[in-house]
Amino acid sequence: MKNIEIVNSTDDNIIDSIFLISLKSEYIHISKDCIKQYIKDKHHKVIIIENDNKITGFLIYFLLKPDIDIIFIASYPNNLGYGKKLLSYLFYDAKNNNIKSIKLDLHEHNINAKNFYIKNGFKEIAVRKKYYNNQFDAFIMEKEINYN
Ligand SMILES: CC(C)(COP(=O)(O)OP(=O)(O)OC[C@H]1O[C@@H](n2cnc3c(N)ncnc32)[C@H](O)[C@@H]1OP(=O)(O)O)[C@@H](O)C(=O)NCCC(=O)NCCS
Repeated sequence: MKNIEIVNSTDDNIIDSIFLISLKSEYIHISKDCIKQYIKDKHHKVIIIENDNKITGFLIYFLLKPDIDIIFIASYPNNLGYGKKLLSYLFYDAKNNNIKSIKLDLHEHNINAKNFYIKNGFKEIAVRKKYYNNQFDAFIMEKEINYN
């Protein structure tokens, strides 16, 4: 059974699981200390998804009204609906906080994630040139929250 949880403690098992999932992606570079800081910071939220008591994905976002910025999202294994479920929690939280839009930046080569975001209602709104390592562009993507 899939379960979504907000992480409030810097428990080693949780930090280790998030860190291990992050290592599966060439596009996510995050240290364990950094994960702990996100958990402690009042403007960041760290969300995990569990399946049969095993952490299978995480989402870190920055919430400062009226906007949300996605910092990282990752699942392992992929293509089992964990990413979509994490985003559906994010959309629910966005509405609860009267958020106008959710934005993120994405490495130009991360086509898998770009398709994932497009399927979930995000649009490419801009390109930030040479944003990563002064070499690769970033796609800026946005989803406006609809209150109708
Ligand atoms: C991008 C990423 C987070 C997507 O997460 P994911 O868990 O693979 O995504 P999902 O499984 O929710 O959705 C992808 C596809 O899986 C399939 N899928 C979804 N639910 C499914 C289910 N219950 N059973 C089988 N397949 C399913 C679908 O084909 C879905 O596409 P759809 O939207 O057309 O239905 C993931 O690929 C990842 O971790 N990438 C590496 C990290 C990264 O690049 N992050 C982004 C930058 S921070």
